[in-house]
Amino acid sequence: MGGIQYYPSVGSTNDVAIQWAERGANDFSLVIADEQTNGRGRSGRRWFTNPGSGLAFSLILRPRGIGANGYLSLITRHTGLGALAVCQVLKYQYFLPSQIKWPNDVLIKDCKCCGVLVETQWCGDQLVSIVLGIGINFTQDAIPTADSVKMTATSVDLWLSTPVDRLDFLYHLLMEILDWRSQLWEEAFLEAWESSLAFIGKQVAIRTSNFQGENDMNLVVGQITGLEKDGGLKLRTLTGEDVVVRCGEIEDWRLVVL
Ligand code: BTN
Repeated sequence: MGGIQYYPSVGSTNDVAIQWAERGANDFSLVIADEQTNGRGRSGRRWFTNPGSGLAFSLILRPRGIGANGYLSLITRHTGLGALAVCQVLKYQYFLPSQIKWPNDVLIKDCKCCGVLVETQWCGDQLVSIVLGIGINFTQDAIPTADSVKMTATSVDLWLSTPVDRLDFLYHLLMEILDWRSQLWEEAFLEAWESSLAFIGKQVAIRTSNFQGENDMNLVVGQITGLEKDGGLKLRTLTGEDVVVRCGEIEDWRLVVL
């Protein structure tokens, strides 16, 4: 590890990590908390982390090389890196099948158990660090009541007969992140990421957004066909056109009538 900061309670581990990165934190430094009082998700949403209920941490990564497709690809691939690593731990350590709802959610049986939030730090036009924030629900206490009622979220322990040892999970997750990070620009990474995608071959509606995560009110409807090299989602629209969505998120597919 580059360094570790642990907090029994903190606003948001991403906020602490961003400040630490700006003060020069080493590559692979970790900020982790038992409770977050102001956890953040994508598009301005909140993320809840009650004490003892899950994992909430942020890793500071110093990217090496930007790949052929530039910074957008680097950032999207880091979102994929976090989600893929969680899927692999669930699969290989806990024998739990899980899938990635592009771009940043991990699902067990179509319900969200984990979210990934990637934020970047820049010096002029140079990307100098990436904060990879990951939140995982281990118990039902991690899930806001409204999401429990709508059954859109789940916790890992619902699918296991024994409680999850959080440190054990964290250890395996960090090992997966290290391993896949070294293959970030290889075909194997893209293949593993694509083969973990949820709703491949299914019709979905995607609410597109700008690079800052703000909705631009466009809805793209189509069948998911795979991943573009830069991490964008490939879709075949209802008129048979092949398009790539680079920023956005899949609308709640259970509410989409096509
Ligand atoms: C999402 O689903 O929209 C992403 C959720 C990301 C939550 C994690 S928890 C650790 C880190 N700190 C935060 O404030 N957010 C991320």
